[in-house]
Amino acid sequence: MYEILKKETLAPNLLHMRFMAPGVARVARPGQFIIIRVDEKGERIPMGLAGWDAQEGWVDIVFYCLGTSTMKLGTMEVGEKVLNVAGPLGLPTEIENFGRVICACGCFGIGPSLPLIKALKEKGNEVITVVEGRGEGFVFWEDELKRYSDEVVVSMGDRSCGSKGWANDYITEQLKQGGKIDLVIVHGCPVMMRSVSEATRPYGVRTLVSLTPIMVDGTGMCGACRVEIGDKTRFACVEGPDFEGHSVNWGGMTLRLRQLLSEEDWSMNLWERENWHKLLDRPRRPGAKTIARPAPIEPEHSGGCCSL
Ligand SMILES: Cc1cc2nc3c(=O)[nH]c(=O)nc-3n(C[C@H](O)[C@H](O)[C@H](O)COP(=O)(O)OP(=O)(O)OC[C@H]3O[C@@H](n4cnc5c(N)ncnc54)[C@H](O)[C@@H]3O)c2cc1C
Ligand code: FES
Repeated sequence: MYEILKKETLAPNLLHMRFMAPGVARVARPGQFIIIRVDEKGERIPMGLAGWDAQEGWVDIVFYCLGTSTMKLGTMEVGEKVLNVAGPLGLPTEIENFGRVICACGCFGIGPSLPLIKALKEKGNEVITVVEGRGEGFVFWEDELKRYSDEVVVSMGDRSCGSKGWANDYITEQLKQGGKIDLVIVHGCPVMMRSVSEATRPYGVRTLVSLTPIMVDGTGMCGACRVEIGDKTRFACVEGPDFEGHSVNWGGMTLRLRQLLSEEDWSMNLWERENWHKLLDRPRRPGAKTIARPAPIEPEHSGGCCSL
């Protein structure tokens, strides 16, 4: 059993949780993930590692409460225990001295970006962090990001309030002006990862994306996480989750993410009927508005995180 040591609300429906998991914390590396199972009836929930301390034995995640499993996890409190925290899983992100690196992140992706930015900086890279959010209340950990980045750009889509558009708009502008970018790494929802990949494609700038397909075992045996990368089928849990953004079949991945939509809705309805009181009790950030259940991702969306 793995104890919850910390729980905080970072943005509407977005939580930070810390678990005691010394075995994971000892060997974790940036870009890897864990799979959490809340109880013996629980689904296996993959979550990117947003931080860890090998000596104190804890690991951090940042997660969006979307459906049954993440809602169930989100209603747990400090001191309670989940059944499994398996990991670290997946291949770590390659960390080298690449030169000038843009780390684009949004929503829950801000979490796993933090250890990555720190590692890239330690290798001597110039790190520009571009954080995307629907509004001020959706951007968090700005101080931590600033500590390890050479520059932090906050992109909130709406240019009329002084923002530089979405992350893909900012990157396009930089590239149009002849700015040097050696590598872009993206953590966020598929819409954001796709739009950033499309922004860098015409300029041939290498772009790594951390894919989040549906997973089951997380060890390469079930095939649930298969994604098309170029002309090959790859298993994101053991061959990823990082892949070259220009080679991902984004349409195929989005369709696979939506294949269980009706079962997920059904499951959420059943769970809500018995647990609505826990949702009412859930602590919210002061002033945060209640958000309706997210609509499914539209593949034709042109850019911007948090379409969820
Ligand atoms: C390697 C990996 C790392 C991940 N890291 C994180 C993380 O750090 N933080 C985090 O919040 N989530 C992360 N995810 C996604 C997370 O695992 C899913 O959101 C979660 O499993 C959804 O479970 P659920 O039962 O709550 O929702 P479900 O009922 O399964 O889904 C509810 C709705 O969300 C959509 N959905 C489900 N999974 C995804 C997804 N992966 N991307 C976009 N939409 C989805 C469904 O189509 C449906 O509309 C990661 C996934 C992978 C594979
Ligand atoms: S999750 Fe089963 S093969 Fe990847």
